[in-house]
Amino acid sequence: MDHIPDIFGQLPKQASTLAASVDWLYQFIFWACVIMFVVIIGAMLFFVAKYRAKPGEKPLAPGPKHTTLELAWTFAPLILLGALFHWGFQSYVFSAVAPATSIEFRVRAKKWNWEFEYPSGSREGGVLVVPVHQPVKLIMSSEDVLHSFFVPAFRVKRDVVPGMYSTVWFEATELGEYDVFCAEYCGTSHSSMFAKVRVVTAAQYREFVLNMDRPPAGKTKAQWGAELFTANSCSACHHVVAGEAGGVGPNLFGVIGSEQPLEGGGTVHADLAYVRESVLRPQAKIVRGFTTAQMSTFTLSDSRIEAIYAYLETLR
Ligand code: HEC
Repeated sequence: MDHIPDIFGQLPKQASTLAASVDWLYQFIFWACVIMFVVIIGAMLFFVAKYRAKPGEKPLAPGPKHTTLELAWTFAPLILLGALFHWGFQSYVFSAVAPATSIEFRVRAKKWNWEFEYPSGSREGGVLVVPVHQPVKLIMSSEDVLHSFFVPAFRVKRDVVPGMYSTVWFEATELGEYDVFCAEYCGTSHSSMFAKVRVVTAAQYREFVLNMDRPPAGKTKAQWGAELFTANSCSACHHVVAGEAGGVGPNLFGVIGSEQPLEGGGTVHADLAYVRESVLRPQAKIVRGFTTAQMSTFTLSDSRIEAIYAYLETLR
């Protein structure tokens, strides 16, 4: 019995080598609960009806003590729980120890996005591209508060805690794109702290890593910039529509080329150098009126910042 069908469609698609064992245990516990519920509540309702007090009847004294029966209902659940522990521990050990052949990625969590660093040192926000059938180990850290890296399709979830490293690994078994969620409430835009894991073939992965810092084929710099703007969750804090009020950060419509008023007096001309500084060292210049929230630091390559700039230039 290595598979219990998911007849109610409760679980997402299985896309990693860990998923089957987690699901098996889940379905086993689910069906054990259903069966026990039906048997126990069924028997209870039956006895309630059959032995209900009739007018004039007195309650009987309890029957004699039945040691064998008591031992049986103590040890039967113990065996079941022991077995559940064994299966759970087995898949925990499998999920805790990354194979030696894993490729390692760094993951940085910050309010409110995920940043992935490739073995080459290049970084990418919002999308982690990994080869299929290849163990991948993530070494994760947080820049601010407690986050949690959760990929339902892979059945992996691990807290990302400020001041320490945590690791998680998976081996994807199906090509496609899978959602990454933050599973630990981390402030205002927690609900938009998404990313994707894109599982590709080994050849596509090599190609991707080579071309990471160039606009994707068929896209202009500004189009790539628009994608990067969403992928890095800039959009979680910045509105880009004319006339809208600022979000957590200022509305970026029409900012490029204008004079921005700064906290503490003075203005700055919003050009590429200013956008670059705003991304790499957001605290260097604070826009007037935006002192309650802090923009987190981003480590994007120059070509990516230029693409975002090209996109922001189109907003006018
Ligand atoms: C956590 C919320 C947050 C995120 C995410 C964020 N920002 Fe900001 N951003 C702010 C805040 C707050 C300010 C204003 C304070 C300051 O100047 O540092 C700001 C200021 C800016 C400015 C200066 C705006 C002006 O009106 O002069 C630029 C440009 C900018 N951000 C670009 C970006 C880009 C590009 C990204 C994504 C790579 C991004 N921000 C992500 C909160 C955020």
